[in-house]
Amino acid sequence: MTITKRVFSGIQPTGNLHLGNYLGAIRNWVTMQDDYECIYCIVDMHAITMPHVAAELRANTLEMAAALLASGIDPKRAILFNQSRVRMHAELAWILNCTARMGWLNRMTQFKDKSGKDKEGASVGLFVYPVLQAADILGYKATHVPVGDDQKQHLELARDIATKFNTDFGVELFPLPEPVIGGQNAAGPARVMSLRDGTAKMSKSDPSDMSRINLTDDADTIAQKIRKARTDAEPLPDNLEDLKLRPEADNLVGIFAALAERTKEDVLGEFSGKGFGAFKPALVEVAVESLSPVTRRMNDYLTDPHEIDSILATGAARRRAVAELTDEALARLRNIGGG
Ligand code: TYM
Repeated sequence: MTITKRVFSGIQPTGNLHLGNYLGAIRNWVTMQDDYECIYCIVDMHAITMPHVAAELRANTLEMAAALLASGIDPKRAILFNQSRVRMHAELAWILNCTARMGWLNRMTQFKDKSGKDKEGASVGLFVYPVLQAADILGYKATHVPVGDDQKQHLELARDIATKFNTDFGVELFPLPEPVIGGQNAAGPARVMSLRDGTAKMSKSDPSDMSRINLTDDADTIAQKIRKARTDAEPLPDNLEDLKLRPEADNLVGIFAALAERTKEDVLGEFSGKGFGAFKPALVEVAVESLSPVTRRMNDYLTDPHEIDSILATGAARRRAVAELTDEALARLRNIGGG
């Protein structure tokens, strides 16, 4: 099978782009545009697996597109669109639902986390969410998938589904996608943690807005969130082993390093022996300096929602030039059935 290097990745339009998305995934999406054919998707059909309001979903989709464009996704080089414009995702997901096994999906931790105590009341879509994700990736024969560490399990499932389909039908239709976690040279943090709890990941679903930095936050809000971020009373250590034992400190040093594009060792070299009274103002400065141009560009894009809409429509049309695998997958099923 000839394989072109092709990147696919997706993000849900639920709430805003936060620092975890940005450092864990989006910055890598931007750099990968230089070396790969890239397809980036705002996955609104994944978002409807949870309770939602249609008008908000549309507004959030436009806002997420503005955030991605402001972060450096270039619609002339990468294909950018929202998932619901393209039927292939849902059609291929159905075929792959028949390849995936219940036992595989029962092991997915996201369903357990998101359905909580009300498994009976959860949507069926939430249960098969990872199969739609596999269809997103496999439908374009993507070879590389830049994601944060929390998506590892879904990527493994996509590989299992691809392998089983290829084996069942004696074909080499789907290449096995490689996760690219934390950036091409592991430059970004694979997991950015909450500012309130160094053991929980920074997340849109955390009820406390103080737990995350959003790309829409202004300088004062960023400063306030960093000032209030949970820390300990010790000065910063001079080595990574000691830092690792202190999750909140480790997270803030990791954020500093990623934003300043320096290593954690280098940051410790500057701040070891100093307390958070000295470190936090420096972090505020780095964060505001690197994020405020993105916020400004995002707000510029949002003044013209029609322009954003037309960028997404163009992306959806352009992706049709890329292999359409539903038909090929269906042909396999029909041949097997003799039809
Ligand atoms: P989503 O929308 O939750 O997150 C988008 C991307 O941001 C990364 N991320 C983080 N990285 C580091 N630290 C964090 N605290 C953090 N929080 C989020 C995620 O790992 C992700 O890369 N199921 C996916 C969307 C999806 C997808 C796909 C991804 C649908 N189809 C196909 C890749 C390929 C999701 O919910 O991401």
